[in-house]
Amino acid sequence: MARITASVFTSHVPAIGAAIDLGKTADPYWQPVFKGYEFSKQWMKENRPDVIFLVYNDHASAFSLEMIPTFAIGTAAQFNPADEGWGPRPVPVVIGHPELASHIAQSVIQDDFDLTIVNRMDVDHGLTVPLSLMCGQPSAWPCPVIPFAVNVVQYPAPSGRRCFQLGKAIRRAVESFDADLNVQIWGTGGMSHQLQGPRAGLINKEWDNRFLDRLVSDPEALSLVPHIEYVREAGSEGIELVMWLIARGAMRDVARGPAPRVLHRFYHVPASNTAVGHLILEDS
Ligand code: DHB
Ligand code: FE
Repeated sequence: MARITASVFTSHVPAIGAAIDLGKTADPYWQPVFKGYEFSKQWMKENRPDVIFLVYNDHASAFSLEMIPTFAIGTAAQFNPADEGWGPRPVPVVIGHPELASHIAQSVIQDDFDLTIVNRMDVDHGLTVPLSLMCGQPSAWPCPVIPFAVNVVQYPAPSGRRCFQLGKAIRRAVESFDADLNVQIWGTGGMSHQLQGPRAGLINKEWDNRFLDRLVSDPEALSLVPHIEYVREAGSEGIELVMWLIARGAMRDVARGPAPRVLHRFYHVPASNTAVGHLILEDS
């Protein structure tokens, strides 16, 4: 049977992608950010999964106001890097896993969650920057990736509670796939940031670090935090953090197993307009 072995949580700041692509990772501004991912890149090399289930948000690259799926699963064989206005990032195409993705769609929809099935989709910085942070600049990504897009751009976004419950359903789906696959689940976006309006530039280190604490030790209670708290404390784009609850809900302890081990934790300000947060949790 397939199994979820670890969860990875990371911000997806687009300027990080540009820093990598333009060879600026050693600049004094960026060096501390990339230092926080050195452990992670090594760990990825030593613990290469068979598939990554990557929860992220699209930023009006594949979708627009014409169509706003709350939860969209990519079932295609391949996803191309999106052109976000400066041409597509020079990163490898993303190879999908249509068989596992279709199985998860079948299982999760029958488990009462409405997913949009997407057979054609370009993937933007929300997906490619986490891959770059964790994998560096390979000529091909280390394994197939199932893109799972969540609408956190246009209200109404899904609640943290629904995201957490969905993570549990994704775990059940993976565990009922009849192949011996090591699957990682990644939750991306965040942490505190606000890109527009009078509070543009807002960062809340205390709230972010408490979010990281609670994500590790009390995710069920964290999932009950209402949207208004994210917006008030973490800024309008801080709402991206509900996606982390999908990945956390898929860990074994939530299904009454042992607690995951915290392999790595990192927090850094600034990176563009965003606080960078990063965690790796491993199921025992
Ligand atoms: C920034 C952060 C984001 O999450 C995003 O989608 C776009 C920009 C930023 O910090 O600049
Ligand atoms: Fe974003």
